[in-house]
Amino acid sequence: MKIEQFPDPYLNVPWETLGARVLSSGQQVAVTLGYPAAGMADDLSASLARYLGVEHVDLDLRFRPPEGRGAAAPGRIRHIIAVASGKGGVGKSTTAVNLALALEKEGARVGLLDADIYGPSQGMMLGVAEGRRPEVKDEKFFLPIKAHGIQAMSMSFLITEETPMVWRGPMVSNALQQLLGQTLWDDLDYLIVDMPPGTGDIQLTLSQRVPVSGATIVTTPQDIALLDARKGVEMFRKVDIPVLGIIENMSTFRCPECGHESHVFGSGGGERIAAQCQAPLLGQLPLNMEIREQADGGTPTVARDPDGEIARVYRHAARYMAARLWQLAATGSDAGAVEISMTDD
Ligand SMILES: Nc1ncnc2c1ncn2[C@@H]1O[C@H](COP(=O)(O)OP(=O)(O)O)[C@@H](O)[C@H]1O
Ligand SMILES: [Mg+2]
Repeated sequence: MKIEQFPDPYLNVPWETLGARVLSSGQQVAVTLGYPAAGMADDLSASLARYLGVEHVDLDLRFRPPEGRGAAAPGRIRHIIAVASGKGGVGKSTTAVNLALALEKEGARVGLLDADIYGPSQGMMLGVAEGRRPEVKDEKFFLPIKAHGIQAMSMSFLITEETPMVWRGPMVSNALQQLLGQTLWDDLDYLIVDMPPGTGDIQLTLSQRVPVSGATIVTTPQDIALLDARKGVEMFRKVDIPVLGIIENMSTFRCPECGHESHVFGSGGGERIAAQCQAPLLGQLPLNMEIREQADGGTPTVARDPDGEIARVYRHAARYMAARLWQLAATGSDAGAVEISMTDD
């Protein structure tokens, strides 16, 4: 078995066709993937050992980000990923921050831009003290605020609660571009943008003005939310931004007393919409009190308990999302990814 032919666990195509760098000598294998994957190194080395028919593989797993589209920003940003939803309240911000933190845990340099001007929440979710302002450099740049290992910028760092809503409207269409253009990001592999909810003109303009590499759509399994998610997918398609995948949030509820899982908002919705939109379902997050308490309390789940059960779902989704981006960059196509399981079965 040639190791170059090993099918990538997320993309199910041989590493060779993706341009992965592979070096091997006996049990020593060094692989450079186009997505950060530190959290799956152990599983991967076990899969490789089975594939090669050897007892054990010493895996040196590295990450080299795919070439980016570049962005009109002073610091370097390789890829901008928009996290969007058709409507508010589906957990877009919670998902965005956990995905950003997950990419960092997997080994990438990550920024998070809160572009939700009407309801900025990343300051709170990252535990940035209220009233803290970003440092200004050379009288023209904002330095992003560092929190839990990522770089963050939010409208909420610049305005106060008292900023009248009427000012925000006209600011919206320029704000993202301005925040992007005036923030001195420090060499990012990925900038996650927490988009304003909805699929109206504002969202369309933002997506057109900023060189977004791909979008991830967050939805709940409810019919109405799914309809909105479809609109989101269509909007990105309209402006030629590839949809990397769908994340279903508040999928199931596990009763803390008896452990029974129930589908509070219906089941199978995320899968259905993913199939309709020919984009993979990147992950399904349960309705879980800890997710809410930890995000709203300033230490999101992936930062609080990076190896816990829920963080693992976010980390899996983050790897999958980044893998899709790699595939697009490497082959120029997003041929429907097929996921294979790496667990023993
Ligand atoms: N999977 C989840 N389980 C429990 N609570 C969640 C989950 N996802 C989000 N929440 C909570 O739901 C509320 C809305 O989430 P938020 O991320 O702010 O939504 P949006 O950005 O889409 O408006 C927040 O209080 C958040 O903590
Ligand atoms: Mg939000």
